[in-house]
Amino acid sequence: MAELDKTQREVGVPGDWTYASAPESRDIVHIDDRYGYFVGGKWLEPSETYETIAPRDEEPLAAIGQATAEDVGRAVAAAREAYADGWSALPGSERAKYLFRIARLLQERSREFAVLESLNGGKPIKESRDVDIPLAAAHFFYYAGWADKLEYAFPNRRPRPVGVAGQIIPWNFPLLMLAWKVAPALACGNTVVLKPAETTPLTALLFCDVLRQAELPPGVVNIVTGDGRTGAAIVESEDVDKIAFTGSTEVGKEIQRRLAGSGKRLTLELGGKAANIVFDDAALDQAVEGIVNGIYFNQGHVCCAGSRLFVQESIYEPLVAKLERRLTTLRVGDPLDKNTDVGAINSAAQLEKIQELVASGKEEGAEIFQPPCVLPEKGYWFAPTVFTNVAQSYRIAQEEIFGPVLSVLTFRTPEEALEKANNTPYGLSAGVWTEKGSRILWMAQRLRAGVVWANTYNRFDPGSPFGGYKESGFGREGGRHGLEPYLRFDE
Ligand code: NAI
Ligand code: MG
Repeated sequence: MAELDKTQREVGVPGDWTYASAPESRDIVHIDDRYGYFVGGKWLEPSETYETIAPRDEEPLAAIGQATAEDVGRAVAAAREAYADGWSALPGSERAKYLFRIARLLQERSREFAVLESLNGGKPIKESRDVDIPLAAAHFFYYAGWADKLEYAFPNRRPRPVGVAGQIIPWNFPLLMLAWKVAPALACGNTVVLKPAETTPLTALLFCDVLRQAELPPGVVNIVTGDGRTGAAIVESEDVDKIAFTGSTEVGKEIQRRLAGSGKRLTLELGGKAANIVFDDAALDQAVEGIVNGIYFNQGHVCCAGSRLFVQESIYEPLVAKLERRLTTLRVGDPLDKNTDVGAINSAAQLEKIQELVASGKEEGAEIFQPPCVLPEKGYWFAPTVFTNVAQSYRIAQEEIFGPVLSVLTFRTPEEALEKANNTPYGLSAGVWTEKGSRILWMAQRLRAGVVWANTYNRFDPGSPFGGYKESGFGREGGRHGLEPYLRFDE
């Protein structure tokens, strides 16, 4: 016995079971000091630049061009030339080859892209590695498959490309949103001018190197960088035939006003305030995982985030207790650490918006819960937050927070859940948790949301269309539906 005690002491049984840090190496990706615009297959020098940083510690990463209306004009001209000069007339099977190549190159270079996405955007490496980059590649594979089958997708309708597409994307899923926009546009024979968000341009700029490797003809995809002024220049450009925008409802409305009467095509994918509804017969532990995934995935910077949790009154207490306990196990910290669950907030501006809305929640009388966690000194951070005691009228129950903040409300009957869930100007997504299949169908038919997940949340597949109702926008991305905005059917 004494002998055994001795060996145990020698082995040194650890008393501390916290995770050791497991950082992904950032050396895998090379970042230039300065980037220009990718136009007609060449790099154009910017006349003005700004700095892009790493939100985890505010480290400057590169100088990025702030494209002027003139720069945008060059990109649009290059796209027009490539469109007229062969791309639109290329057989679908030939276009498909390029898309397949791009998809494979993204897979081959996936670690590089994942590290860069997490560094520039702040999201945990396990999310960029396991979700963003694989899904981006999957979108190119998926639409490569449609490129030579458009006549079958739309029988007797003579599908033809629209022309030059101007695409403006946000900072929450930079490469994935690029894939959602570029893949269907090219599959249908259009050419593209794309602008990434000002805080997260780096993966879009690395993507230009993938285009070079894939030997995509010059001008088929052009990338310009800059803030909202550059976006507005794309919208206003005379020679753009279609605008695809993902971002805030405010800017979406502004774009729609601008384009009214112009004859240009438009699709908008805007904000959301999704209801995640848990009935008393749901598997509670499974629901808790879905709730956590629904609102803390990507720091809550998700348009379809399940930010309003509706809990049936009879299970309110056990569910909230389980949820709060689960929150204490979330690891908040370095986005490049493989153990991190919640990374950095994307920008100072977004952090400010979250702080302001959380303060309003406290002021209006909601009760706040945050697990104990030590936030890094530098960079932009916000602890995972749950608000209980929330009334429907509170700002935190009405407005999109776009951060790791959940508002919990209650209901008694399915009718009441439905009425409260639909009581929002948005209509992008919803979740339903119940063992009863008939109730899932009853709810799904009545929820005014583009996507309804049942006993799961935040599940994506390139074959499944995604898009909103009401102030969440219009048009669908993904699936066969996602081809339509990039095709015309007139004679
Ligand atoms: P934003 O809508 O201003 O930015 C999205 C994109 O639009 C960026 O590329 C930006 O440069 C561009 N843009 C800005 N103004 C423009 C204009 N006048 N014309 C054309 N393009 C323009 O979003 P922001 O300010 O970054 O975030 C504000 C709020 O919007 C967030 O707190 C969140 O609630 C919501 N949002 C929703 C997103 C979604 O996925 N639905 C994505 C990003 C933000
Ligand atoms: Mg804005």
